[in-house]
Amino acid sequence: MNILLLGSGGREDALAWKLAQSRLIANGGKLWAAPGNPGIARHAECVSLDATDHPAVVAFCEAQRIGLVVVGPEAPLVDGLADSLRAAGIPVFGPSKAAAQLEGSKGFTKDLCARANIPTAGYRRVTSEAEGLAALAQFGAPVVIKADGLAAGKGVTVAMTMAEAEGAVREIFAGAFGAAGAEAVIEEFLEGEEASLFVLTDGATLMVLASAQDHKRVGEGDTGPNTGGMGAYSPARVLTPELESQAITQIVAPTARAMAAEGTPYSGVLYAGLMLTADGPKLIEYNARFGDPETQVLMLRLEDDLGELLLACAENRLAQLPPARFSPDVALTVVMAAKGYPGTPDKGGTIDGVAAAEATGAQVFHAGTALKDGALVVSGGRVLNVTARGATVAAAQAAAYAAVDAITAPSLFCRRDIGQKEVAREVAREATR
Ligand code: AMP
Ligand code: GLY
Repeated sequence: MNILLLGSGGREDALAWKLAQSRLIANGGKLWAAPGNPGIARHAECVSLDATDHPAVVAFCEAQRIGLVVVGPEAPLVDGLADSLRAAGIPVFGPSKAAAQLEGSKGFTKDLCARANIPTAGYRRVTSEAEGLAALAQFGAPVVIKADGLAAGKGVTVAMTMAEAEGAVREIFAGAFGAAGAEAVIEEFLEGEEASLFVLTDGATLMVLASAQDHKRVGEGDTGPNTGGMGAYSPARVLTPELESQAITQIVAPTARAMAAEGTPYSGVLYAGLMLTADGPKLIEYNARFGDPETQVLMLRLEDDLGELLLACAENRLAQLPPARFSPDVALTVVMAAKGYPGTPDKGGTIDGVAAAEATGAQVFHAGTALKDGALVVSGGRVLNVTARGATVAAAQAAAYAAVDAITAPSLFCRRDIGQKEVAREVAREATR
């Protein structure tokens, strides 16, 4: 079978690496990627395709006899690409436009939680600055302000003071996020540790994949501005088996049931961002796609055929498959980012030593890289995802940083404390044994 993977980041490089090992493409099948990147090009033939041009994507799939389209990022899903492909009879991994609202509209998700009695932060939807400011007064600081739509990860402000909160409301309604900020959600501040849970669903059956923990702030010790994620590890042990099953029964399963009951079944991967509060797990947000960089650690641990899993999901036959198997090992990824990120990244710098890093046993996934005169250079904010496995978080962390140290790229930086909180807990557990 031929498979088309859409996207160009580290998440897609990890998916490409795993899809290239699938039985689906073993017998004369081919993996395509659009647009891909130099890392993805190691596993797939990269082609330039505009994902916003649905007829062009459909035409490509028909011409190349694509049997499965895997959509990496959220924008094409929220834009209805999966609907266009399904209408043309092409199996696609990823939700419909209606179902992708779980990521595309924060207000939609909050209302669904309210209807289905799903634990999440208390909230109010507001459509003007005046309404927003009035809502802030009800909540008091700290409080969270979110642009309703997709804002490339920049639409959320966790405000510690009322002044900051008011500034965030004014910014949204002054148009800082364009149409994504035509509406906003004002939310109760939740306290706890965050963890992410990834679940496959074809609308009827749920298959839990694994948990992970991201590191969203740019600086060590979780300081500085929010980013798309500076590193992750899996599994997230803070999400104990008890808390995980609570999150499934109280959050993920009722969400899938409500979406199906309302005529918009959700098909694809449901990425639940959870806050582990004193009252149990609460939903922070859903994403309608795999996480980046969480996918990089999930793929290193997945022991089944990713192509078979995603195709079963696309063809509504998840119930026929056994539960997905993951290695008990820990996987940990360190994001090497360009100086300036999450602001304007410093592009064009040289990257050496990727092969040496991989010779240590790590996987180096490419995110923002390009080839210039045959040499690898920086072309984006997040550039490389150096990913390794180990029996413990400490071991995976040591292996990942040993690989990072094999790379010479003067214009890149990384956090040196990915997984550190869990390493400290490992040490504490060891001490009490
Ligand atoms: P989001 O873009 O929805 O993932 O939000 C970005 C980050 O803001 C989350 O990862 C949390 O760290 C934080 N956040 C979002 N909502 C809340 C909330 N209600 N209480 C506390 N922190 C939150
Ligand atoms: N790492 C966060 C995300 O993928 O949204």
